[in-house]
Amino acid sequence: MVYHIPVMVEEVVAGLVADPDGAYVDATAGGGGHSWALLQALGPKGRLLAVDRDREAVAAARVRLAADARAVVRRGCFAELSELLAQEGIGPLSGVLFDLGVSSHQIDASARGFSYRADGPLDMRMDAEVGPTAAELIAACSERELAELIARYGEERAARRIARSIYRQQRLAPLTTTQALREAVAATRPQMLNKTLARVFQALRIAVNDELGQLQVGLTAAEIGLKPGGRLAVLAYHSLEDRLVKQHFAALVRGCICPPRVPICTCGRRPSFKRVGRKLQRASEAEVKQNTRARSAILRIYEKIEAG
Ligand SMILES: C[S@@+](CC[C@H](N)C(=O)[O-])C[C@H]1O[C@@H](n2cnc3c(N)ncnc32)[C@H](O)[C@@H]1O
Repeated sequence: MVYHIPVMVEEVVAGLVADPDGAYVDATAGGGGHSWALLQALGPKGRLLAVDRDREAVAAARVRLAADARAVVRRGCFAELSELLAQEGIGPLSGVLFDLGVSSHQIDASARGFSYRADGPLDMRMDAEVGPTAAELIAACSERELAELIARYGEERAARRIARSIYRQQRLAPLTTTQALREAVAATRPQMLNKTLARVFQALRIAVNDELGQLQVGLTAAEIGLKPGGRLAVLAYHSLEDRLVKQHFAALVRGCICPPRVPICTCGRRPSFKRVGRKLQRASEAEVKQNTRARSAILRIYEKIEAG
């Protein structure tokens, strides 16, 4: 079975690779699809560090990229990027890619607990050996905390009702499977069960893996690791992660942080990044037809500029 079909590959490679002999990082290696495509665009001196926090992804990417001596695959998370770069002696960087979220393999492997469509342990950890599982997180939260988490990370309006139902179940017997969580959500009789389930599962997944905290640290590591002229491409799949990327770079593209009412800049900050191409890119209709996952993808590309 295919591990993962990479999204917007041509757009990512065309937008990211401005220097074929440069050093690149794929911070979300997954099955190595984007990494492989990036390597095809690199010259003999080009180098690629492919990173993923998921052991299964690291194993799959190693198989995919094994024949290419320009590539090295390492396990690690965004928060460890700077350390990995130092360990591998890679940099300053010409490009960094973040293809956010979960891979098809993670969703399809019911034992990982990411999917509401198949029964499995209520786990959802990308690194299956670190940190609390979704079941442990639910057990540790109060009903109110869980409602806040579902509202914030799932953008779900019925979060309080859903949290109440989950806790009703939890008091009878701790929720340990995706099916049990599904039933607790279904008991609230949402109008569109699958959409509600998707939002609740997304919320728990984001919390279990601290996805937004990781992204913030990862963007900063990339920002520092890039050389002037180096580029960063981010593929986001939901508004929370896209908003974070947009806001992070809006400040860097603007530079000045003086309030609008101040007539002359007093902060002295200069822009350190510029946008490459359009504000954002979407997958073509043809791609979405072949790969439904591409439908929600939003690609943003930025380039580091010389400090003025
Ligand atoms: C959408 S998939 C990437 C697929 C990949 N582009 C490909 O072509 O196969 C996202 C991957 O990012 C990894 N990931 C998500 N958050 C991460 C983090 N904070 N640190 C490292 N890897 C992360 C996930 O484990 C997953 O394998």
